[in-house]
Amino acid sequence: MNVRDSEHMIAELNREEPYLLTKDAKEADLILINTCSVREKPVNKLFSEIGQFLKHKKPDAKIGICGCTASHLGEEIFKRAPEVNFVLGARNVSKIREAVLKEKFLDININYDESAYAFGEFRQNPYKAYINISIGCDKKCAFCIVPHTRGEEISVPHELILNEAARAAASGAKEIFLLGQNVNNYGLSGGKKGGVNFSQLLTRISEIDGVERIRFTSPHPLHMDDEFLDVFASNPKICKSMHMPLQSGSTAVLKAMKRGYTKEWFLKCAKKLRAMCPQASISADIIVAFPNESEMDFMDTMEVMEEIRFEQIFSFKYSPRPLTAAAQMTNRIDDKTASARLKMLQERHAAILDEMTPSYMGKVFEVYFEELRENGFAAGRTSQNNTVCVKGSEELLGKIKSVKITQPQRLILYGEVV
Ligand code: 5AD
Ligand code: SF4
Repeated sequence: MNVRDSEHMIAELNREEPYLLTKDAKEADLILINTCSVREKPVNKLFSEIGQFLKHKKPDAKIGICGCTASHLGEEIFKRAPEVNFVLGARNVSKIREAVLKEKFLDININYDESAYAFGEFRQNPYKAYINISIGCDKKCAFCIVPHTRGEEISVPHELILNEAARAAASGAKEIFLLGQNVNNYGLSGGKKGGVNFSQLLTRISEIDGVERIRFTSPHPLHMDDEFLDVFASNPKICKSMHMPLQSGSTAVLKAMKRGYTKEWFLKCAKKLRAMCPQASISADIIVAFPNESEMDFMDTMEVMEEIRFEQIFSFKYSPRPLTAAAQMTNRIDDKTASARLKMLQERHAAILDEMTPSYMGKVFEVYFEELRENGFAAGRTSQNNTVCVKGSEELLGKIKSVKITQPQRLILYGEVV
C-alpha cells in the first residue's frame, strides 16, 4: 500500500512538471519519506533517517514525511525535527502538490475522503498495476494502529477502478494488483454495503481486454464466503495465491485480538480453499507473543501452520502500538520468550518449505516476467506467487512464458523457458 501511495504522490507531482527520481539524497530537491507505523521499529528509524538526510541533502532541499507515522505523530514530527517542511498523513497523499509549495504544511485528517480522487498515473513497474480499491479499515483489531492512521473504511467507486484497470492494461500492464486493508469487504459506502461486491469486481476486471492476471491483498478470513471462494477458484485470470492473515491459531488469543473467528473456523475455511482449489498457495501473517499468550496458545498457532502448511508466512513479535486496545493490556510476554517463539515458528516454517521445495523439480509453470536481476537473470512469478529466475534479458519482460524448474531453492525456483 505504501508503494502505491508513493506512486500516487509521484503522479500528483508530475501533473505540474516532470519530476526526476533519484536515489541519491545529495542531488534531490525534494526528499519524501513514506512511513509505516504498524510496528514500533520503523517509527524509531524515522528520526535517525531524517538525521542522515539532513547531513547530506542540498541546503534548499525540502523534506516531507508521509504515511502512517505522519498520521500518528503529526505535529510531534516538527517538534522533534524542525527542519521537516511537511507532514502528510496516509489518507492525505492527494495534497502533495499543495504541500510542496508551502514552507510548512501539515495534513493528517483521517476523515478526509480520497476514495473518489482521480490520481494521476505513475507505475514503478510498468508490467504490473497496483490499484487501490478501498481506503481505511473499520475492523479495530486490538493490536493494530491502521484504523487510527488510515481512518474509516471506504470503497473506491467501481467505475474508477475499472477505468484505471483498463488504462493500465492498454498501456501493457498484464497484471492488476488490487489493494486494500480488507479487499473482500469491498462495496462499502458510508459504512453500508451495496452495489458491486468484491467477487463481482474481480469478474468485471477479468473481462477487461489485456488483463491476464489479477492479484489482491489483503483479504480478511472473515469475509471469505462461498461466492468469493468460487470466483477465486474458477476464474483462470485470478492468480492462485491467497493471503489468509491468521494472526494467531489460538481461539482465546483471536478473541482478545478481536479478529472475529476461531481456530476451527479458520482451519475449516483454509481447508475448504485447499479442496476447492488444490493448486492454490496460501500465505499468512502471524503475530507471536500477544499479551497473555500462553505456551498452549502458541502451540495452537504452530498446529494451524502444521495443518495448513502455508507456502509463505510473514511473522512478527507483537509490538505494542499507541491508541490500540492491546496497548492497555497488562500481561505482556517478555522479549526472551517472544523471540524464542518467533524463532521456533520461523524454523519450523523453513523446514516445511524444505520439505515442499524438491517437489517443484521438473514442473512447468506459467511465469510472468517483471524484472531483471544480477548476473543475467530475469525474474517473474508463477500464478501461485513463487519467484522464478531464468537466464535471460529485457526481451522476457512483460511476457508470460512456460518455465520448467531445474533447480528449486527455498525462496527462488531456477528454471529454463520451454
Ligand atoms: N505488532 C506486531 N505485528 C503487527 N501487525 C499489525 N499490527 C501489529 C503489531 N502491533 C502485523 C499483522 C498484520 C501485518 C500487516 O502486520 O500480522 O497482518
Ligand atoms: Fe489492522 Fe485488523 Fe484492519 Fe487488518 S483488519 S488493517 S489487522 S485493524
